[in-house]
Amino acid sequence: MKNTTLNDGNLIPQIGFGTYKATREEGIESVKNALQSGYRFLDTAAKYDNEEDVGEGIKQSGIPREEIIVTSKVWRENMSYDNTKTALAESLRKLQLDYLDLYLIHWPANERNYGAGWKNANAEVWRAMEDLQAEGLVKSIGVSNFWPEHLEALLETAKVKPAINQIEFHPGYWQPEVLKFSQDLGITVESWSPFARGRIFGNEVLEKIADKHQKTVSQIALRWIVQHGVIAIPKSTTLERIKENLEVFDFELSDDEMLLINGIPEMGFSGELPNLWPEVLPKN
Ligand SMILES: NC(=O)c1ccc[n+]([C@@H]2O[C@H](COP(=O)([O-])OP(=O)(O)OC[C@H]3O[C@@H](n4cnc5c(N)ncnc54)[C@H](OP(=O)(O)O)[C@@H]3O)[C@@H](O)[C@H]2O)c1
Repeated sequence: MKNTTLNDGNLIPQIGFGTYKATREEGIESVKNALQSGYRFLDTAAKYDNEEDVGEGIKQSGIPREEIIVTSKVWRENMSYDNTKTALAESLRKLQLDYLDLYLIHWPANERNYGAGWKNANAEVWRAMEDLQAEGLVKSIGVSNFWPEHLEALLETAKVKPAINQIEFHPGYWQPEVLKFSQDLGITVESWSPFARGRIFGNEVLEKIADKHQKTVSQIALRWIVQHGVIAIPKSTTLERIKENLEVFDFELSDDEMLLINGIPEMGFSGELPNLWPEVLPKN
């Protein structure tokens, strides 16, 4: 497994493990399987209702806590200084941990739901994140689903620059402007839904490139993500796929192949946009 160095000096594996919708027995089992298969980086969130299961999976895996990077996120309903601190305490309790490696703002407050106060709401959450980092309760802090306008506004008052921006990023929807804006600031981009929750499978461009490399479409997508300098957190509850999704460091895509994948017309977009919450567009 290769690591990326974040702008705060902390190391993070280039492939992590997603856990959205993996709950109860399935959640525990998949986290345990992932850790025992070699993953050392887990992604959960208060909203996923599985922090207890992720914590249990960590325990059952037998892998020492200090070898694992654990991420959680503060949910949209807790966009204040005090609520963020309480939310972190609750996440730690459920995970049975005494610190997190990475804590993210799950979605930015925006004008639609906070009116003129949206910048201040994000700034207050961020101030709490900075304090939690200073207290040693979280090692790295970052954001998710932030567009350039949200990042710019946050940086007006931030003392610490976000280490990560976790965004929807997969073949067919990869937000190149957000990627460039984040990377130019030294913020590492992390891809959520690297397979568009399964909607990339069957794409002919990806299938052709997969055949050429004797790899699977999932491995081509992950390799394309990694070659963009982006971290990926594929989710699977299937042991074979969990292992398959780690096998992306023994081949390379050519520049032409990267461009071909970059140019795949829009597909698989979740319909979730940071500025439209609470309204959500129909899914395709
Ligand atoms: N920050 C955010 O707002 C946000 C939003 C969405 C997701 N996330 C995070 O990103 C993680 C990943 O995204 P995601 O769960 O939405 O979707 P995803 O990882 O793109 O896709 C997961 C789907 O792909 C299937 N799959 C996995 N590996 C496969 C393989 N090798 N071959 C064929 N099918 C495969 C899984 O099936 P099985 O499980 O049945 O194997 C599952 O149905 C989440 O779990 C979550 O941690 C964050």
